[in-house]
Amino acid sequence: MPRKIIVTSALPYANGPIHIGHLVEYLQTDIWVRFHKMCGNQCLYFCADDAHGTPIMISARAAGITPEELIERVHKEHKADFDGFLVEFDNYYSTHSPENKYFSELIFGRLKQAGSIVEKTIEQTYCENCKMFLPDRYIRGTCPRCKAEDQYGDSCDKCGGTHQPTELINPACSTCSTPPVRRESRHYFFKLADYEQQLKELITAGYTQKTTANKLDEWFSTGLKDWDISRDGPYFGFKIPGEEDKFFYVWLDAPIGYMASAKNYCDKNNLDFDKLWNSNEYELYHFVGKDIMYFHALFFPATLIGAGFKTADKLFVHGFLTINGEKMSKSKGTFIKASTYLKYLNPETLRYYYASKLTGGIEDIDLSIEDFTNKINSNLVGKLANLASRSGPMLTKKLDSQLGQLDTAGRELISKLTAAKGQITENYENLNYAAAVRTITALADEANRYVEQNQPWITVKNDLEKTRTTLTAVINAVRILTIYLKPILPEYAEKIEKFLNIDKLSFADVETVLQNRKINNFERLADRIDKSKVIAMIEESKEAQIAAPAATDSVEPIKPQCTIEDFEKIDLRIARVVKAEPVEGADKLLRLQLDLGGVQKQVLAGIACAYKPDELAGKTVVCLANLKPRKMRFGTSEGMILAAGPGGQDIFILSAASGAEPGQRVS
Ligand code: MSP
Ligand code: ZN
Repeated sequence: MPRKIIVTSALPYANGPIHIGHLVEYLQTDIWVRFHKMCGNQCLYFCADDAHGTPIMISARAAGITPEELIERVHKEHKADFDGFLVEFDNYYSTHSPENKYFSELIFGRLKQAGSIVEKTIEQTYCENCKMFLPDRYIRGTCPRCKAEDQYGDSCDKCGGTHQPTELINPACSTCSTPPVRRESRHYFFKLADYEQQLKELITAGYTQKTTANKLDEWFSTGLKDWDISRDGPYFGFKIPGEEDKFFYVWLDAPIGYMASAKNYCDKNNLDFDKLWNSNEYELYHFVGKDIMYFHALFFPATLIGAGFKTADKLFVHGFLTINGEKMSKSKGTFIKASTYLKYLNPETLRYYYASKLTGGIEDIDLSIEDFTNKINSNLVGKLANLASRSGPMLTKKLDSQLGQLDTAGRELISKLTAAKGQITENYENLNYAAAVRTITALADEANRYVEQNQPWITVKNDLEKTRTTLTAVINAVRILTIYLKPILPEYAEKIEKFLNIDKLSFADVETVLQNRKINNFERLADRIDKSKVIAMIEESKEAQIAAPAATDSVEPIKPQCTIEDFEKIDLRIARVVKAEPVEGADKLLRLQLDLGGVQKQVLAGIACAYKPDELAGKTVVCLANLKPRKMRFGTSEGMILAAGPGGQDIFILSAASGAEPGQRVS
């Protein structure tokens, strides 16, 4: 009987691009799903964007768009990134959906009925200027421990310590720099401790991996606390029923988004959601990173139990990606976006590499650039693809594309390959892809040895039939290895299917052989990785940070306050551009001679990418007249002209009204 399986990956936040760290998870999951589909199981893979919360609201504001517009744009980008990496969801939805609103309200209502929700008034940090409560991440100040400036309200990047926002020295709102105040507000709390017994039973029954279970024991022994599931407006999320300005905290409705995505799929495909999600007919598995284990091992299952829904059969937790042994870093260029990767490299190289590292454990996985290029070039290209490219063209060119029959030696080789099926499928099932890849590589070595021993490139000169027999064995080896690799390399497998003129390969095909039939022309399978491409990709990832922050990035913190007195020091004057010329040795600068009504000033302005010198001569501009002169390599700049824009070609000079006289003060 084929199994019926539902699989989810964590829902990525809708306020930033997918990067290769995220892809550890989506590729791990996709490989598992494809494996099950290839085993003939019915497997459905659901995901969605996690669209709610303060960061999304603030990112949208900073980009000058509505949160709805932002999440729609990001949804398209995420979908394109996943498609690019061959991550095949059965449904990719959004938590900002009617289905999710329905289930969130339903679950909240049932928890309330069960007496698992309490209301409490608590004191929190509030910005009177922004008129909002500030999440810890939106409060900046000096670390109480190491005194590093400009640290978050909950933790310090410098000393790594954690603290309460109230402990910060000189705290300020990260949006407007106003010192926050404390303010009371009424909140809804979920009584997690009510479910301690059921959660413990779940975990004893094997809900998580062993290492995860140990971490959970720690949490149990420190005690389960009430969980605050409400937030005051302004907030981008679902309004709490019966409240005017209170919303569900994003982490309440986010995991419910798994159900919403499934429900949306069921409605589109005429399936019964209750049967699919809430009966034992289907197995249910969640894949998540270790950073969000608490939510998936405690909060989410507890809310489901309380609301009378089924919990998953298993939670698979993975570790974090490091690059060359270090955390991904924007300044080192290792914070590589999915879309950047796709510009330089084939997605299957990352799929193969991650597969070769993933063991199903919770340890971090390291992408070392050196190891990455070696593995792709020597194993994927050198051993696996090479096997096909050594035999394919010879068959089509010299042997009329016709396969023959296996002889004893050929059968021996093939039966060795076939015999590994049980072990390889078990490795896939247990998420130990690294072991599967090791076995497959060893089998490819075996097949390559067979080619060396039989020397088809020599026999082809005088014994065509012997050559055909040899190549028939090699082609069958290629076919079996391709089946084993197909969950990892779906496009590679498709090329082989086309080449061998066969239907879509599944695990059942391992037991059959291809003999006495025609194959098609051979198509290039995989290319060696050129190190220069990897370097260029890293370079581009570095630049991305220096360029203007994308609208979807988190907002840059605002500088310390300046007072109205500071501002009044500024003297703005109308100025006429008398002369404008390029500056030798500085592509971005123009040298401007300005007339401020009798006073002449030289200004070096970084606007050469946006304006040509002759466009400016005679123009009336606004000049910051009392800026302290600054000596630069190309001369002294005695002021500044007002211009704004994201940079490059997009800088716009503020030009004055036509009647304005040079020297006139501007306010
Ligand atoms: N929105 C939440 C998840 C809600 S699930 C109901 C979230 N989003 S995320 O975009 O930050 O992360 C999505 C998934 O990617 C998480 O499982 C997270 O652990 C994983 N990863 C994010 N960065 C990662 C690495 N650098 N390495 C490995 N996995 C990483 O959390
Ligand atoms: Zn503020």
